[in-house]
Amino acid sequence: MPDDTTARRKDAHLDLCATEEVAPKENSTLLECVRLVHCAMPELSADEIDLSTPLFGKTLKAPLLVTGMTGGTERAGEVNKQLAGVAEEFGLAFGVGSQRAMAERPELLGTFAVRDVAPSTVLIGNLGVVQAARMGLGAVQKLTDSLGADALAVHLNPGQELTQPEGDRDFRKGYATIQALAKHYGDRLLVKETGCGISPEVARRLVECGVKHLDVSGLGGTSWVRVEQLRAKGAAEEVGAQFSNWGIPTAAAVASVRRAVGPQVKVIASGGLRTGLDVAKALALGADLGGMALPLFRAQQQGGVQAVREAVAVIVTALRQALVLTGVRRASELRVRPQVITGELKDWLSALEGRA
Ligand SMILES: Cc1cc2nc3c(=O)[nH]c(=O)nc-3n(C[C@H](O)[C@H](O)[C@H](O)COP(=O)(O)O)c2cc1C
Repeated sequence: MPDDTTARRKDAHLDLCATEEVAPKENSTLLECVRLVHCAMPELSADEIDLSTPLFGKTLKAPLLVTGMTGGTERAGEVNKQLAGVAEEFGLAFGVGSQRAMAERPELLGTFAVRDVAPSTVLIGNLGVVQAARMGLGAVQKLTDSLGADALAVHLNPGQELTQPEGDRDFRKGYATIQALAKHYGDRLLVKETGCGISPEVARRLVECGVKHLDVSGLGGTSWVRVEQLRAKGAAEEVGAQFSNWGIPTAAAVASVRRAVGPQVKVIASGGLRTGLDVAKALALGADLGGMALPLFRAQQQGGVQAVREAVAVIVTALRQALVLTGVRRASELRVRPQVITGELKDWLSALEGRA
């Protein structure tokens, strides 16, 4: 049914994410509990560092993904075009936000379409698992095709939906939906959370359903419970406040999911990654790529395309530096180097160990 409520809600989300405290300071990724071990004799030239990473049949120049955020309004369309243009320049992957608004109003395609500015980028469509179940495979595939996307990201967000007064309440048959999507999309399906994390148990079951790409999107960055709390009034606001630090810290999610699923599954770390050193630590914990949303959106809002370029350049430079200083040539080698894990992250990992 044509409806602009979904698109208007996405614009309200952009306003809140541009200016409000949507990533509460008290929430942590626990990446501060990870230290990489310095190598005083790297025996490498900085120019030799190879950050190239395969994803969905293409090769990225760096193991980085701009995770799905937006689409559906003119403003959102501008955000998509600018971020996707920078992803193309730097050889990163780029995801659009939920295409639900586009499913309801196909004329909004132009606010998601970025192939004109990002012809060779790994481009990822996006839809919530509940919407995907309602729409059916044919309609979902049409959304992916109309973008010329390389893959579909299906997002899981029960924390956000429950906090949103108009949100979904029924999360049954999620695995059956994912299984049908995995059968249909094969290797071209990514399942992602949206800031509350994926546990090793859930990861293992998703892999049993045929999923080969997981973005753990853990706690420590943008909290969608918090975003909905900021939009809500009364009881919903109160409940949202109680749950705005709910979730599995990103470092705990990445390390435990990697152990649960084994090397054939690609694991993306996102949720609160803010620097190239954060990305390096996430790779050391077992991720294949790091993803970021809020910092790149904020850079775009504050300084347009040039600010996004500068932010990405700093992230990539720091990641390269982390590789040289740990004495490895390739990003994938970080995980075989020693690392020190301290404090609360140790507690999380021992609690999650063997729970898959
Ligand atoms: C403005 C904004 C809009 C978002 N919209 C979506 C969305 O439509 N679909 C989705 O899967 N994730 C969405 N996300 C979640 C991000 O992809 C990511 O999982 C989460 O924000 C954690 O990463 P961060 O801490 O780097 O922001 C959105 C994030 C932001 C900041």
